Amino acid sequence: MSTLKASPQGLTRIKQARIEKGWAVDDFRWLQSASQVVDASWEEDNVLAVGISPGTWKRFLAGKFPINTEAFKAYCQVLGLNWEEVVDRPEDTNTNKSLAIENRHDWGEAPDVSIFYGRQEELNTVQQWIVQENCRLITLLGMGGIGKTSLSVKLAHQIQDRFDCIIWRSLRNAPPIDEILVELIQFLSNQEETNLPTQIDGKISGLLKYLRSGRCLIILDNLESILQAGDRTGSYRPGCEGYGQLLQIIGDTFHQSCLILTSREKPKGLAALEGESLPVRSLQLSGLLATDGRSLFDVKGTFTATDDAWQILIDRYGGNPLAIKIVASSIRDFFDGDIAHFLNISQKIPFLFDDIQDLIGQQFQRLTTLEQQIMYWLSINREPVSLPELQADFVNNVPVRELIETLTSLQRRSLIEKTRIALPNNL
Ligand SMILES: Nc1ncnc2c1ncn2[C@@H]1O[C@H](COP(=O)(O)OP(=O)(O)O)[C@@H](O)[C@H]1O
Ligand SMILES: [Mg+2]
Repeated sequence: MSTLKASPQGLTRIKQARIEKGWAVDDFRWLQSASQVVDASWEEDNVLAVGISPGTWKRFLAGKFPINTEAFKAYCQVLGLNWEEVVDRPEDTNTNKSLAIENRHDWGEAPDVSIFYGRQEELNTVQQWIVQENCRLITLLGMGGIGKTSLSVKLAHQIQDRFDCIIWRSLRNAPPIDEILVELIQFLSNQEETNLPTQIDGKISGLLKYLRSGRCLIILDNLESILQAGDRTGSYRPGCEGYGQLLQIIGDTFHQSCLILTSREKPKGLAALEGESLPVRSLQLSGLLATDGRSLFDVKGTFTATDDAWQILIDRYGGNPLAIKIVASSIRDFFDGDIAHFLNISQKIPFLFDDIQDLIGQQFQRLTTLEQQIMYWLSINREPVSLPELQADFVNNVPVRELIETLTSLQRRSLIEKTRIALPNNL
């Protein structure tokens, strides 16, 4: 019978993974999971031969004696570890040099987040997904300016100790997938890997090798840049389809790393990979709370307002921190920091600051004609509307199915939100 035991570093990882799972040494919840792992991949006859038991588990955790190979692999899997990284292979210590990923960080153009308010709940949720639940692919979604990029950087700072290496890249200029893969592999291999496969598949497999052998955190910001404009299914721009392949493999394949994406629009195929008990999740960001939005004003200057006026102001901009920062500067410069005055005037003459117009304009241009029409009607209505009301706005009849599909796509683009509205009694 073949046996394996953990290396000294492997043992540290096993301990860390066990603690992250919240399992005490004599907590045998692992037993059920380990049996499931084996059940899934073994013929029935072999299950007994595997020898999963409290005794082998304790020997595995102690790491002093070798245990049955299959039990070793199953235990690693339930702990979310790659057995090849944990196993003791004295003869390998020199040959596997390029896979020994040590502490390396490349923050690229990641912005400074020293001024950052609120978002505690979002930070806790995503941290839990990554640290406790070993999620492999996480997408932060939300409209422009809502704070996706900042949250991704703040989060990465918070969890950096959990990873061997971190790389942050923006896809703003829609780099070809090939370029990004080469950059990632070279960074993870410490520039040692220069002879890369020519095909995208080969490069993705090459990347996966690193994602398995170390804990890497990769953040790709602005994913919407590689999605097709004027398309409501979130499909990729021509030439960018390889990104879809990358996401699918990172979400579907076993490894110990994590890819965080930020995007204004949800990419195609992601929903199929997601699930509460699956390692692929997404988080839709909404605006900041009024108290946190207020802190953004504090750094801009001195403002006067009642609590109600603050709430109205921040609600008006949907708690969008970028919009709040733009408005704060204008109120300071043109209204002398008097928020009531600003609210009063802006009610009489609705106006939009140029920068906010740019922000909305960029997203608006990407919409289909029907999506644009719906956005016009929603803004003309000014209040939340029900589906029949919206349908009645259109002169030419729009089929309900099409209307619902288009509303769903506006939601996936983070441009509209669903709320409950009180229906008239006769409906
Ligand atoms: N929680 C926050 N606290 C303070 N400022 C924030 C916060 N979130 C975002 N911002 C600021 O708002 C602006 C837009 O944020 P950003 O992360 O770039 O949004 P997005 O990536 O969603 O377009 C930036 O200037 C950023 O510094
Ligand atoms: Mg951003």
